[in-house]
Amino acid sequence: MKDTRALIQSHQSIRKYEDKRVDDAIIADLIESARWAPSSHHVQAYTIIRVTDHEKRIALKDVAGGQPWVETAPVFLVFTADWHKHKINNEKWEAPMQMEETENVIVGAVDVALAAQNVLLTARSYGLGGVMIGGIRNDLHEVARILELPSYTFPVMGLCLGYPDQDPGQKPSSC
Ligand SMILES: Cc1cc2nc3c(=O)[nH]c(=O)nc-3n(C[C@H](O)[C@H](O)[C@H](O)COP(=O)(O)O)c2cc1C
Repeated sequence: MKDTRALIQSHQSIRKYEDKRVDDAIIADLIESARWAPSSHHVQAYTIIRVTDHEKRIALKDVAGGQPWVETAPVFLVFTADWHKHKINNEKWEAPMQMEETENVIVGAVDVALAAQNVLLTARSYGLGGVMIGGIRNDLHEVARILELPSYTFPVMGLCLGYPDQDPGQKPSSC
């Protein structure tokens, strides 16, 4: 295992993968890492969906503008901002949920980003590589239809993961 600093500073997106299954225990551990991401007010306003259905993978690839790795990656996760679960809880406790649209969108999207980066870094510690997929936002409604998302949720990004079958090299960092 590489140390954290070396992992972070050797980042490169990987879009081509070996034809090798990723163990379920590893995937469970990736989700465990997501759970430990900091979260605004600890609301954890996201849900992670592992998409295994091939037809759905093809449909999501199409939404993302035909990016083949959305279909071919051994693992494809969709990170959705999720206020639906809070709505259900609030109804249960008869406490009306306050939706401040912009704030809720930002909190959901930031929570997702932090969780997704935790997942990617943990995946890399297992020798996996991956790429985040913002292309699924090309058509939010279509993704919601494909994944049967409830109201008060929206997809923020996908994440392709697998054992790397390419070494594209790091892009120059700036700032
Ligand atoms: C939120 C987010 C969305 C992204 N969406 C896509 C995408 O849809 N397709 C893709 O191939 N790469 C996507 N990327 C990867 C970026 O293109 C990549 O991180 C950037 O070009 C820098 O390259 P590097 O990751 O190899 O350093 C995304 C990255 C982020 C952070």
